Amino acid sequence: MKFFLDTANVSEIKRINELGLVDGVTTNPTIISKEGRDFKEVITEICGLITGPVSAEVIGLDTESMVKEARGIAKWADNVVVKIPMTEDGLRAVNQLSKEGIKTNVTLVFTVAQGLMAAKAGADYVSPFVGRLDDIATDSLALIKNLKQVLTQYNYQTEIIAASIRSLKHVEDVAELGSDIATIPGSLFPKLWSHPLTEAGIQSFLKDWEVFKQ
Ligand code: G3P
Repeated sequence: MKFFLDTANVSEIKRINELGLVDGVTTNPTIISKEGRDFKEVITEICGLITGPVSAEVIGLDTESMVKEARGIAKWADNVVVKIPMTEDGLRAVNQLSKEGIKTNVTLVFTVAQGLMAAKAGADYVSPFVGRLDDIATDSLALIKNLKQVLTQYNYQTEIIAASIRSLKHVEDVAELGSDIATIPGSLFPKLWSHPLTEAGIQSFLKDWEVFKQ
């Protein structure tokens, strides 16, 4: 499974990228607003830091605005991917953009049907939201499992980005279910490599070594 970082924080991206763990980055308007920086400036900087895809979301809601914004965003860097919301206008935009060779990530996906529509319209990535489904007591893992099965069954090349990941358990679960990608908040990422027993083990080895040396 590929790891994307769900952040626009450049320090977080640099830190985790140094470990060789960042296959891509995703952002959304909320994530960008947290950085308090110019949208184009921050996306361009991130695109220069990593070689993988970097998702930047449109704000417009009608097809014409989305396509116009997407064409502009696509010029910012070779590895930029335009994030489009899962609506009728969004699907029309994705269909048009795919014909122009502009890569898209369809976001705010909550059902298999939505994911299948996005793939069929020509999306390169589809982003089902795990945490937000859990918030309303709906089986988010069934969505990942079933969407993966359907896209594989019909040979779609569209990759699934499990988004709205909130816990280590989410990451392990979506990996087990065959999600192509999990996009993980920068604050959660260190929890993937940390374990209290690892830390306790290091401390006890060091203590024994000190005793041995005396
Ligand atoms: O990229 C979108 C997604 O990851 C949002 O997560 O935690 O705001 O539901 P969250």
